[in-house]
Amino acid sequence: IMGEVLEQFFILVGLLVCLVYLVKCVRFSKCIFLRFWKVLPRSFLKSMGQWAVITGAGAGIGKAYSFELARQGLNVVLISRTLEKLQATATEIERTTGSSVKIIQTDFTKDDIYEDIKEKLKGLEIGILVNNVGMLPDLLPRHFLNSPDEIQSLIHCNITSVVKMTQLILKQMESRRKGLILNISSGVALFPWPIYSLYSASKAFMRTFSKALQAEYKAKGIIIQASFLGHIPPWVFHSGAFRKLLLACYVDYLRRNAALGP
Ligand SMILES: NC(=O)c1ccc[n+]([C@@H]2O[C@H](COP(=O)([O-])OP(=O)(O)OC[C@H]3O[C@@H](n4cnc5c(N)ncnc54)[C@H](OP(=O)(O)O)[C@@H]3O)[C@@H](O)[C@H]2O)c1
Repeated sequence: IMGEVLEQFFILVGLLVCLVYLVKCVRFSKCIFLRFWKVLPRSFLKSMGQWAVITGAGAGIGKAYSFELARQGLNVVLISRTLEKLQATATEIERTTGSSVKIIQTDFTKDDIYEDIKEKLKGLEIGILVNNVGMLPDLLPRHFLNSPDEIQSLIHCNITSVVKMTQLILKQMESRRKGLILNISSGVALFPWPIYSLYSASKAFMRTFSKALQAEYKAKGIIIQASFLGHIPPWVFHSGAFRKLLLACYVDYLRRNAALGP
């Protein structure tokens, strides 16, 4: 009898394990087949508020977010550095989506810009903030002491902007008990990244700040997330051949630039 009970017990455990993995697979497939699963109702983003604010919206990822949010029915405030790019993007968004667009020209490497931004955002019901602006002074990997001396600019652009923009906008989200803040971090935030130390540390700040803030404001109905973008999808790092190739290129690079490093 004992043997039979044990057998039933193990069958039950086996079935439970299969069930857990089945649920995991189904949940994972939601991330791959977003179009079929419709994770969120179409009205979700718009229900956060009438306006979305996007920093660094004149080009690249910020511009793409601005278009998509406008397509989802939100009006958008584009904040960026070059007026001509802002104007061109605003015209294109208004023409293709029919949403209203405001532009604010500013330079996030400065820290005395927030009173002006606050004034220009006054009266808008802001449901979504995308903290996208960020700078990497030099694409080439370098030791800290050999990097261009743009320390203060980088800290203002990558860190101060996130904190100050969040401070400006979170207050009204809190009183409406609704809102979404998306911080565009980077894959280099996930672990220390030598020879890009300041940039990767600034992106790690965004990660920690977002997680802690989400814990503080979750109960108030506000969603705060960091997104970790990377040039290279993580699965390639599991390939031995790729790792060898990367290492060979890196060693070659260091040899050619030996004069740069201590
Ligand atoms: N691209 C990637 O592969 C990648 C990977 C990981 C993470 N990220 C992160 O994603 C974000 C966007 O990257 P991206 O490549 O799309 O950026 P980007 O093309 O270099 O710049 C996007 C926009 O930001 C504006 N901008 C840059 N510095 C500014 C400043 N000091 N003040 C105001 N506006 C400024 C630019 O202004 P102008 O109109 O004057 O050019 C441009 O309109 C960054 O935070 C970056 O760290 C990017």
